[in-house]
Amino acid sequence: MRQKIAAGNWKMNLTLDEGLQLARYISNELDIYSDTQVILAAPYVYLKSLSDLTFPIRNLHIAAQNCHAKESGAYTGEIAIPMLKSINIEYVVIGHSERRAYFNESNAILKEKVDALIEQDMNIIFCCGEPLEVRKAEGHFDYVTEQLEASLCHLSPKQFKQVIIAYEPIWAIGTGETASPDQAQEMHAHIRSLIGEKLGREVAESTSILYGGSVKPANAQELFSMNDVDGGLVGGASLSGSSFLSIINAFS
Ligand code: 13P
Repeated sequence: MRQKIAAGNWKMNLTLDEGLQLARYISNELDIYSDTQVILAAPYVYLKSLSDLTFPIRNLHIAAQNCHAKESGAYTGEIAIPMLKSINIEYVVIGHSERRAYFNESNAILKEKVDALIEQDMNIIFCCGEPLEVRKAEGHFDYVTEQLEASLCHLSPKQFKQVIIAYEPIWAIGTGETASPDQAQEMHAHIRSLIGEKLGREVAESTSILYGGSVKPANAQELFSMNDVDGGLVGGASLSGSSFLSIINAFS
């Protein structure tokens, strides 16, 4: 059985008070007996307060939106994985297309982060996804294959248990344009078969693959009902408690 996951990526939004209010709303309204795991990826400076707030809730987790691969040292402005662990953070998002595009994060840099996170027993939400011109030229399967092969596929089956994949086509992020359920399913099936080829069927069947890109209350149920879509990584719609809650409740 694969985990069903609704993850909110707050990106660089909300003040501390707004973030805490949102997390309090989610923690109060969440069905704690549900099998759906909820993850909030928040700015670094809110992580400690959020992890203290949500700590007792078994299906609500806090994630960092990035990390540095080195354990410590002279890297001004960066955040190391042991720092995240010291405030009970168990999940880290890496490889978001915004980090790849605006902060020059290459597949090689991401591989280093993957290895560091695995070594330190952290759960990884690894983002992949193609830009519009690649989709138009029908190169999207090869593009995503390359991203996964370069940064992730070297892991062992045991290490891969720490990995969640998020497929986020860049043309659907923050644009209001969503991949159709069939487009999402097709890519998720491709990713799962790639994992199967590299790491074996058992790993492929147990890895959660999330869809990201303009997930909203109005389209979440249909997307999440696809065979290989195990949930969503949600940007804009995760900033409102009621809309994120209806996405959390969209698993049938
Ligand atoms: P939107 O849901 O705002 O399109 O953002 C998706 C995303 O980038 C999540 O990481």
